[in-house]
Amino acid sequence: MNETQENQTATASFAFFRANMYIQPTNFFRLIENSIGENMIRSTLALLVVLLVGLGCDSGVPASPTPELYERLGGQEVVTASVESFYSMLKADPVMWRTFEGVFTDESGTRANRFKEMMRGLICYMADGGCWYVGLSMHVAHSHMDISETEFDAMMTHLDRALQVNNVSQTERGEMISLFNEMKSDIVN
Ligand code: HEM
Repeated sequence: MNETQENQTATASFAFFRANMYIQPTNFFRLIENSIGENMIRSTLALLVVLLVGLGCDSGVPASPTPELYERLGGQEVVTASVESFYSMLKADPVMWRTFEGVFTDESGTRANRFKEMMRGLICYMADGGCWYVGLSMHVAHSHMDISETEFDAMMTHLDRALQVNNVSQTERGEMISLFNEMKSDIVN
């Protein structure tokens, strides 16, 4: 066998190998199709697509998580403005004077400033704004005040309104009020 004949034999063997032994993608699926049936293939592929979409792998972009409540409220700027509005509303409401008189009439403003600071910190803490609340527990802070349900609910109405006038949307206001309401039994006597 000369060199040309050897080359021809090698090419022919390779062609035979390619045609018969190597499983091309289409043949591969046909092979499986024949063994487990076309419908099974289709449902398996559909399931894979659903799983990949579910895992957020279809686009290669990780699914973006919902921002924390504090951020959705508008962050520090909106919370600071809302606490100012809240305090003004409390002061304008005769129902609040029974418990807040000492705070409202403190001419130095020390008690008002402390209350606002504590509220800003507590909201930041509760709304996952990345703060720690360092202050009295809600039970200890209020246990001697004999706070009624009416007073509590009036305060929640002011909080909702204060957030509203600072353009916080209804969803976020609802979430914030729910978190406050969870403390009701610690505060109301
Ligand atoms: C979920 C509802 C409430 C929250 C989150 C809340 C939060 C707070 C916080 C953080 C403080 C400051 C505690 C400290 O000085 O370490 C405080 C104090 C106080 N709270 Fe509340 N409070 C709530 C409901 C109420 C209600 C319904 C009233 C009365 C109607 C009230 C009246 C007061 C008063 C009078 C103080 C003391 C202020 C001072 O003496 O300087 N609170 N509250």
